[in-house]
Amino acid sequence: MIKAVRGMKDILPPETARWQQLETVARTVFACYGYQEIRLPLLERTELFSRSIGASTDIVEKEMYTFLDRHGESVTLRPEATASVVRAFIENRLDQGAEVKKFFTIGPMFRYERPQKGRYRQFHQINAEALGGEAPELDAEIILLLLDIFARLGLTAIELVINSLGCPRCRPAYLLELTALLARQVRDLCEDCQRRSASNPLRVFDCKSKVCQEMLAQVPTIADHLCDQCSWHDQRVRELLNRYGVPFRHNPRLVRGLDYYTRTAFEVVTTHLGAQDAVAGGGRYNGLVKELGGPDIPAVGFAIGEERLVALLSQQEVTTPAPPLVFVAVLGTAALDRGFDLVQTLRRQGCRAEMDFGQRSLKAQLTMANRRGAAYVLILGDQELAAGEAPLKNMASGAQQVVSLTDLTAIQAALGGKGA
Ligand code: HAM
Repeated sequence: MIKAVRGMKDILPPETARWQQLETVARTVFACYGYQEIRLPLLERTELFSRSIGASTDIVEKEMYTFLDRHGESVTLRPEATASVVRAFIENRLDQGAEVKKFFTIGPMFRYERPQKGRYRQFHQINAEALGGEAPELDAEIILLLLDIFARLGLTAIELVINSLGCPRCRPAYLLELTALLARQVRDLCEDCQRRSASNPLRVFDCKSKVCQEMLAQVPTIADHLCDQCSWHDQRVRELLNRYGVPFRHNPRLVRGLDYYTRTAFEVVTTHLGAQDAVAGGGRYNGLVKELGGPDIPAVGFAIGEERLVALLSQQEVTTPAPPLVFVAVLGTAALDRGFDLVQTLRRQGCRAEMDFGQRSLKAQLTMANRRGAAYVLILGDQELAAGEAPLKNMASGAQQVVSLTDLTAIQAALGGKGA
């Protein structure tokens, strides 16, 4: 038996219905906020990610699916979508006009991480990216958008955590101070952090080791080193969130696993998913468009982890009732032919309709209908075709009524309103 690749899983019914539900909700909310869909390749040149996410991040150092294509070019299965959105933005000259350009994209990402509950090697994200706006209102707006998606899904067990990571004006001085502090206590740090303390010191804040955490609790944070503009921006974002009654926790030790962030950084976390507690993450990335060869354009965005969102929703048992199903049982070839038409017509009217083409006995078809959870069964044989009407059976109550085969509205009414 050939099995799926480790860390990559099939998403099967009925869970797929939940995926559809959350993507539909996201699309609806995106439309309200003026975000348009963008669809991007899964494969990009490797350089795109090393230059954007950062050469000394875990993602680029050890988690990318990178290989040489048949022409010897190094390509990578995208580990995230922001870099690709920016690449597409620059390549397709989407920067024309003064307004903020707002995009969303939904799809799979690939990271060679150690698989565990909530952490996969192929996972899916819903991404939002707003390019071309520097105002803190845009940060607040995109956070409100994210929380609107969660609210419409009825998700409650979550917490918004925010921080400011400063900018190229104020962060370097802080990093120097942090590096010096870490260098003095380097022997107390775990092996990973010993390495990070020189190459990417902010990343030490993400270390899960207790020893490192205890040491870092004593270390000054970026919050005390923000320049006036970053500080003002941060205050304004928080003020707006407060104004809209959004509860959040300011965590001056929140850093993100990608290097491109400037100023606002945020995550939505939950205590219901074990170690993999972030359902979404994002922030501002003012230098990235320029870094990748485009104009000097500020931007902000987020990504939701769909697997984690689905897991949370399953725990909360948020379900959308499926429309009732009518199963058309057919006896004989003429009935099969007529049944095929009827099922197609009902489906076009938004009705969930099914049938079987195997010319099985009525009993076998009723068993099938039962197994599929059909609310109604319409029984079609030669006699019914001749009479132009057929019995419609309510599977729960056993009640039966005769419906005209030519009066679709009557059939739909019998199926309960629209029939869908
Ligand atoms: P990220 O924090 O790396 O950010 O990922 C966002 C979300 O994707 C996480 O909060 C988590 O829910 C989900 N996720 C990440 N890795 C995995 C995994 N291995 N298995 C399952 N779920 C996972 C980004 O990717 C940024 N591009 C977000 C962004 C957009 N920032 C600005 N714009």
